[in-house]
Amino acid sequence: MKGIILAGGAGTRLYPLTIAVSKQLLPVYDKPMIYYPLSVLMLAGIRQILIITTPEDQNSFQKLLGDGSALGCRFEYAIQAQPNGLAEAFIIGEDFIGKDKVALVLGDNIFYGNGLSKLLQSKTDVKGGAIFAYPVRDPERFGVVTFNEQHQATSIEEKPTHPKSNYAVPGLYFYDNDVVAIAKEIEPSSRGEKEITAVNQVYLERNALAVGVMSRGMSWFDTGTVASLDDATEFIRVLQNNQSTMISCLEEIAYKMKWISYDELKASAQRYGKGSYAAYINSL
Ligand code: G1P
Repeated sequence: MKGIILAGGAGTRLYPLTIAVSKQLLPVYDKPMIYYPLSVLMLAGIRQILIITTPEDQNSFQKLLGDGSALGCRFEYAIQAQPNGLAEAFIIGEDFIGKDKVALVLGDNIFYGNGLSKLLQSKTDVKGGAIFAYPVRDPERFGVVTFNEQHQATSIEEKPTHPKSNYAVPGLYFYDNDVVAIAKEIEPSSRGEKEITAVNQVYLERNALAVGVMSRGMSWFDTGTVASLDDATEFIRVLQNNQSTMISCLEEIAYKMKWISYDELKASAQRYGKGSYAAYINSL
């Protein structure tokens, strides 16, 4: 399975923070935002990853993440020139995806919790599509899903005025190779975007949209607003200061996945200067 991180968009809800800097490079406590969704793909076992950015920001992401070899991965880069919707990622990524299955994670979504790796790894051989459901207080801000006892989706709507459930759909999606053709077929919505929800509706009509429920032990943040960005920062700070482990240390994950050696892990700390991130790698 291949992976795509969509890190485009203008981030206007965060202005002035994002006038000169990409949203997905902003700090979430002690690391750039994109480290978190990248760690999610890595925990799923995905090593070939396409990072889609705006044209202006591509160089910065390349400077930060390189070709992925330092993490035993392979990163490629592509551009989304206009915010034409999440589903466009599969059209931009068509050659990269080839004949494989693909996971998409949004560059501003953060996931943390017990059993996350297992949940992710259970979706990498998906037939059809697999999405997640996370109970929230304000479902009308998100894609909203209902599902049956077999955990098959029974309805999915984008930002409904009257949500049929309180289960939001987080920005993390697993699909078989049909997703490329589906993304091409769907029409843009009234906001002019190829919606990921429209892709999911096609899978739902085929009775092929599985729903993984993220329950109490799991935390999800969409960091698209100042308040939610601040919440995520506080969450990471409190957890990390309370426990001796770091959330989304990419080098630690690569080492535990056996993608880099002990010597490579040790050497990787040098890049991070004298800060707490380097100290954490050294402590491993
Ligand atoms: C997008 C999706 C929505 C999903 C959300 C998760 O919304 O369209 O279905 O629930 O991401 O972060 P957007 O952030 O584009 O408004």
